[in-house]
Amino acid sequence: MKGIILAGGTGSRLWPLTIAANKQLLPVYDKPMIYYPLSILMLAGIRDILVISTPRDQSLYRSLLDDGSQWGLSIRYAVQHSPNGIAEAFLIGEEFIGGDSVCLILGDNIYHGHKFPDLLQKCASLQSGAVVFGYVVNNPERYGVIEFNDRQEPVSIVEKPDNPVSKYAVTGLYFYDNSVVSYAKSIIPSARNELEITDINNIYLKNGNLRVELLGRGVAWFDMGTPELLLDASSYIRTLEKRLNCQICSPDEIAYEMHYIDNGQLRKLAEKYKCSDYGRYLAELAETSVFRE
Ligand code: DAU
Repeated sequence: MKGIILAGGTGSRLWPLTIAANKQLLPVYDKPMIYYPLSILMLAGIRDILVISTPRDQSLYRSLLDDGSQWGLSIRYAVQHSPNGIAEAFLIGEEFIGGDSVCLILGDNIYHGHKFPDLLQKCASLQSGAVVFGYVVNNPERYGVIEFNDRQEPVSIVEKPDNPVSKYAVTGLYFYDNSVVSYAKSIIPSARNELEITDINNIYLKNGNLRVELLGRGVAWFDMGTPELLLDASSYIRTLEKRLNCQICSPDEIAYEMHYIDNGQLRKLAEKYKCSDYGRYLAELAETSVFRE
């Protein structure tokens, strides 16, 4: 399965924070925002990744993430010229996706939870159909909202409804079979002039091919659309990292834990960041786990 991180957009709900800086490069406590969705793809076992960003910011992503080989990944880059909608990712990424299935994650989404990696790996083995995740929110009108019938089966998804029929938002992580490319070609821009990911999900739903996994209280999900959510996410990560004495969504650590890199490669990464607590954490990890290989 291939992975796409969509990291374009204008970040207009965060202005003036995002006038000169790309949203997905802003700090979430001690790491750039894009490290978190990247970590989710890595935990799913996905190593072939396309980062889609704006023409202005592409070189910044390259200097941050490089070609991914430092983490045992292959990272490629593509440009979205203007924010024409989330589903445009499959048109931009058509050649990259080729004949494979694909996981799309929005660059401003953070997930964290016990056993969540097991669920991700199960989803990444998907052969046909699609999987999306439902999450209870207090302001469903800001999201794609899932309507259920009385047997608790999803019957439709409505993008930013004025009168939401449930509190279940569709989060920004999507697993699709290869049909997603042709579905993306078949949809037309919405009233707000975007190719809507919700239209794609509704095609799968209509064909009886959409699985909705409801994320319970074991998983925390943030999208960082507003300054308040950005601060909430930073506080959440800070609290957990301090109390648990570990890193949340460090691509360096995950690459090591997933055996994408070995102890020597981890040591090199630790050396690179040695002036920061992050680097010292990696150095200690390399030191204390040297005998387990
Ligand atoms: O976060 C989950 C929600 O994401 C879903 O519930 C909605 O169904 C889905 O439409 C989307 O809604 P948002 O209003 O949050 O999408 P937003 O325009 O904020 O974009 C989400 C991320 O994707 C953001 O980091 C910018 C990036 N993006 C967005 C668009 C529309 C792009 O890179 N290019 C785009 O064209």
